[in-house]
Amino acid sequence: MTKKLYVKTYGCQMNVYDSERMAEALGASGYEQVDAPEGADMILLNTCHIREKAAEKIYSELGRYKPLHDANPDLKIGVAGCVAQAEGEEIMRRQPMVDLVVGPQTYHRLPKMMEAVDRGEKALDTDFPEEDKFAHLPKLRQPRRGPTAFLTVQEGCDKFCSFCVVPYTRGAEVSRPATRLLGEARDLVDRGVREITLLGQNVNAYHGDGGDGEWGLARLIREMAKIDGLERIRFTTSHPNDMDDDLIAAHGDCAKLMPYLHLPVQAGSDKVLKAMNRKHTAQQYIDLISRIRAARPDLHLSGDFIVGFPGESEADFQDTLELVKTVGFGTAYSFKYSSRPGTPAAERDGQVPADEASDRLQRLQALLTEQQRATQDAMVGREVSVLFEKPGRQAGQMVGKSEYLHAVHVDGPDRLRGQIAPVRIVESRTNSLRGALL
Ligand code: SAH
Ligand code: SF4
Ligand code: F3S
Repeated sequence: MTKKLYVKTYGCQMNVYDSERMAEALGASGYEQVDAPEGADMILLNTCHIREKAAEKIYSELGRYKPLHDANPDLKIGVAGCVAQAEGEEIMRRQPMVDLVVGPQTYHRLPKMMEAVDRGEKALDTDFPEEDKFAHLPKLRQPRRGPTAFLTVQEGCDKFCSFCVVPYTRGAEVSRPATRLLGEARDLVDRGVREITLLGQNVNAYHGDGGDGEWGLARLIREMAKIDGLERIRFTTSHPNDMDDDLIAAHGDCAKLMPYLHLPVQAGSDKVLKAMNRKHTAQQYIDLISRIRAARPDLHLSGDFIVGFPGESEADFQDTLELVKTVGFGTAYSFKYSSRPGTPAAERDGQVPADEASDRLQRLQALLTEQQRATQDAMVGREVSVLFEKPGRQAGQMVGKSEYLHAVHVDGPDRLRGQIAPVRIVESRTNSLRGALL
């Protein structure tokens, strides 16, 4: 008898990929994935610990399942991901409904853990095991929902930025063997995927076994580009210090590598960058972007920013605004610094008052939004190629992504789904572009 599994995913794209793999792993225990928690036999939350609010959300979400649990005492509740890793035992204490806690590096053990849960025991596993979990996971079998897919190629982080929990929740940097990744990519393409986004917490630090020695990310991308039927490759998230010459060159000479790059800089003040342990200066970032743009002039650049880092003065914040003006971002994500237990910055003096940080965030976001708007508006009149993913909100509409990752909708037939077609952009809307098929 199949049982129903509901998975809810928070946080980064790597969690999206993990959720898919966990659902497949639970297939061995007789579970089939469903789209709603009502009527499920098991609920699994795949969580994020990056900022305080993200972590707190999990406890309120668990609270919301209480009525479902009261109505069905056999309902199993599991917590996976980075909150599970960071505070697994506390979750069990704070929320006795939870049956299972599994970290990001041990979910290949889910079927075994479920045996314990089915016996009425609690199961908690947040090890950093020796073995490669991917080698112990079933091959993905679920039907693909669209023509795009994520593929985790690298996990963990050795950078230890002073604000960040990732090195603690995900563990040390590990790169998956290139030969396996090429196989996985071929499988995805055989199942209709046209675009693959290579994932890693520091994806451009990739250095995996290619059979004839160690490959960097650029080599992996170039080899993957040889797969017939795979049309587009992207990667995220990168660190400025790991943008090597070959990867920069690939942006110019690998036609399947899309002209979009998410390259977080976090701040524009050298003092703050140093305190963050980012290990580069603002000018080094600016120079790096110039080199990448020389290889690919139409590159659409995206970034992450933190305001209100401990010790950040108004003058430091002005340096961030200056950097943004100098570089020019097509898209950006900005956050108020959130103090995370166990990270070096949490212990530091000079914590910035919340209202001050909010004010800086507002000013930074105003500038970033202006740049985003201008980048989007400049697309009007241009020809782009769109990979169509799904029908739009209105009848007769189809939506997809341009090579620059802009959402584009056109009037067109359903058979466009999974196809790449040339489109002329005719209008810039709030969060999308309208185009006409050529
Ligand atoms: N590996 C990536 C970032 C992963 S986390 C990199 O180094 O660029 C995603 C983003 O969350 C970070 O880029 C940062 O901007 C933000 N972030 C991480 N920790 C944070 C914290 N403690 N407070 C606020 N934002 C944080
Ligand atoms: Fe976190 Fe990224 Fe820094 Fe690693 S490089 S510690 S993931 S912000
Ligand atoms: Fe969040 Fe963990 Fe990703 S903390 S951002 S889910 S690596």
